[in-house]
Amino acid sequence: MSIKITPVANSRISAVNFDNLDFGRTFSDHMFEMIWQNGAWQKPKILPYGPVSFTPALQSLHYGQSVFEGMKAYYVDENTINLFRPEDHHRRLNLSSKRLCVPETDYDTFISGLEELLKIDSKWVPKKHGQALYVRPLVFASEEFIAAKAADKYHFYIITSPVAAYYKEGFSPVSLTTAEGFVRAVKGGTGEAKTAGNYAASFMPAQLAAKKGFTQVLWLDAIENRYVEEVGTMNIFFKINGKLITPELSGSVLNGITRRSVIEIAKNNGIPIEEKRITIDEVFEAGEKGILEEVFGSGTAAVISPVKLIHHQGKQVEIGDGRIGETARKMFDTITGIQYGKIRDTYGWTHPVKIQ
Ligand SMILES: Cc1ncc(COP(=O)(O)O)c(C=O)c1O
Repeated sequence: MSIKITPVANSRISAVNFDNLDFGRTFSDHMFEMIWQNGAWQKPKILPYGPVSFTPALQSLHYGQSVFEGMKAYYVDENTINLFRPEDHHRRLNLSSKRLCVPETDYDTFISGLEELLKIDSKWVPKKHGQALYVRPLVFASEEFIAAKAADKYHFYIITSPVAAYYKEGFSPVSLTTAEGFVRAVKGGTGEAKTAGNYAASFMPAQLAAKKGFTQVLWLDAIENRYVEEVGTMNIFFKINGKLITPELSGSVLNGITRRSVIEIAKNNGIPIEEKRITIDEVFEAGEKGILEEVFGSGTAAVISPVKLIHHQGKQVEIGDGRIGETARKMFDTITGIQYGKIRDTYGWTHPVKIQ
């Protein structure tokens, strides 16, 4: 794979305070770019990160053909950066692309482009435990044509951003509320895809939830409004009477990579786990009976996020003593241990990139 690399004349890294990183606001020196036109992906490039110019007729701005991924790269030692499950992230990017009529990309181009990007920007991978380099692949329709049909031209970027440790002073358990009068996704829609519009549509209910003091929305199914699906940017797990339960992939839930990791760790450690439909009433009943032992979210950003409270139609259930439970802790320690190369990766999840 030949990638044309244009390095920056002057790195911006000396202006970055790695002890005070604001999520998603600092970008590394370079970006990967590949353009789809005339029915094929053109030669990939790595070039200085910076503005790209388009006119307001850019098709994705009007019709939302835009898909992305969110993954992380972790500093292991001065020679090695670990990517976590890049093949799974790439597969999901292609699933999202397929649903949105965006052209798919091949894994070889993706991974070799990403490896080159990490090598040239290796100094941007923060070194402290808990910090990481957030990797954002993004494909969008870039034809200048305002007709409601799939575009003929696309831009594919990979940009990277150093991010702080999610938990700086211990875990901060979150509170969730269901969103009356709103739905996130329905089977057959775009809920399984990581596409821009899903997030845009969730901002209003998320703002209403925040106004009432809740951290995020707990989404229920769109048809019966009873079955728990997922949280704003996380999948969800309940530990009820010793068993972990997570909503099955219904066609409207995002197939989280962290979710899959939690399931595999549970299976490997003899922790009972079931993927099944679970209603919000069952969750509240378990709370009333005192058998709702733990609730936690799973996602790339926080890895594991303990939930302290769930609100639904004027009622609330509090979980445990508001601190992280033992299963959530085990999942967090195992996954982060593997990501930072502190625990041997018997699952084959890490993709080490040698930077020298
Ligand atoms: C809607 C939604 N659900 C779940 C997740 C968790 O997925 P992952 O574990 O792959 O980060 C995310 C984050 O990407 C998300 O945006």
